[in-house]
This record gives sequence, C-alpha cells and structure tokens, in this order.
Amino acid sequence: ELSPIDKAKFVAAKRSVDFVEDGMRVGLGTGSTAAWMVRCLGELVCEDGLKIRGVPTSTRTAELAREVGIEVISLDEARWIDVTIDGADEFDGNLNLIKGGGGALLQEKIVATASDQMVVITDAGKEVEKLGAFPLPVEVIPFGWQTTKSLIEELLISMDVLGRDASLRMNGSRPFVTDEGNYILDLHLGRIGDAHQMAMVLNQMPGVVENGLFIDICDVVVVGFGDGRVETRD
Ligand code: A5P
Repeated sequence: ELSPIDKAKFVAAKRSVDFVEDGMRVGLGTGSTAAWMVRCLGELVCEDGLKIRGVPTSTRTAELAREVGIEVISLDEARWIDVTIDGADEFDGNLNLIKGGGGALLQEKIVATASDQMVVITDAGKEVEKLGAFPLPVEVIPFGWQTTKSLIEELLISMDVLGRDASLRMNGSRPFVTDEGNYILDLHLGRIGDAHQMAMVLNQMPGVVENGLFIDICDVVVVGFGDGRVETRD
C-alpha cells in the first residue's frame, strides 16, 4: 500500500506516459517520481511492444531504464528529443521550476532544453506562489568552490530574496559529487523575487556551471494527489 505522497507521485507518473508515442526519443528524468515513470514506460515496452529510445539524465536513471527493458541512447546519439518527462522540487503558476534536489540538474536541463516538449510530474505539495522555499541547487566546479560560494553570497545582497545562505551539499562527511564531477551549493533564499534574473545572474559567475531554475522550459505539469486524482497544468 503506497503512502498518499507516493500514490500522488505514482498517478502523475502513470498519466505522463500518455505523452509518449511509438518511435519517440524520450528524455528520462531523475528522482523518485521520474523512477515511477521509467517503470511505467518499461511496462509499455515489454508488454505492449512500445518502441522508444530513452535518453537518461543520470547514471541512476540509465541503470533503472536498462533494468526495465528500455533501450538507452546518449543525448549525442539522439541529438534531439521528442518529449522529456521529469520531476521537480517546486513549480509555480507560470510552470517555472526549481530542480536539482536529486543533484542531476545539469544533465536534466541540457536534456529538457533539447526537447520539443518537457512534461513535469509532481505531487500537489510542490506547487508554490513564488519559487524559493526549496533551497536552490547550484552546480559549481570544485576548483575554488569556497571563493565561488562567497561571491554568490555577496551577489545575493543585491538581489530580491529573503535568505542568503549557501551550503555545500554533503554526502556523509564528503562533498556530494555530481555525475559531471562537480559540487552543489544549496542556496537558502526563501523567496526569489525575480527568478528569471536570478537564473541569468548566477550563470554569469565564474565557477558556476548551472543552476536549478528552469525558466520557460516546462510545457506541462501533471499534478498527482494522494487520493489518486490527477490535474494537468499547461
Ligand atoms: C533531480 O535532480 C531533481 O531535479 C528531481 O527532479 C527532483 O528532486 C524531484 O525528485 P522527487 O521526484 O524524488 O521528489
């Protein structure tokens, strides 16, 4: 028996595979909600003969996709993607997102941007008026990361945010390392006044590889509820 939150994630994931058609190249997101979607797609491949090729956004997702019988290709092999289905940590009324809670934001953003359509699957609890309650993940190069962190904190003084602390994401006693060999700084902003500006300004800083704000990338959000209902926002 699934908990209400897992049920919500599952029903959103199950509904999202309706966006996938025979012959498509499908971007496969990362996280617990995306994992449900990968399993649903695997079932369609194995039981209904659906023919797709999947482009995973992390080593975790690549492993799961292979395990459930989905043919996996790289983004360079695919070049472009028909639809990407991924989770998110927050979404707002304009379908802008914070992603990267699972640490895969860089590949996720590259894959989503290369896609004709991005479908986000989430439980209803992730909808916000203003982005920023969820700490914003920023992927940084390990070289000089403490300097980069200080520069980001300084930069935040001039931005319309409530909080300004950045913390290095840890994995036990060591820094968490992304699939691309980088570190993640989590920015505790509370509320981001202008998410579009924040995304642009962060990416201009030396040492920053990418940030977890997805602005004007997502086309549809499929929202699941604990009682099994599903709503679509587009
Ligand atoms: C992974 O890097 C994230 O962007 C995920 O999409 C996000 O953390 C959602 O995860 P859950 O589906 O596990 O909540």
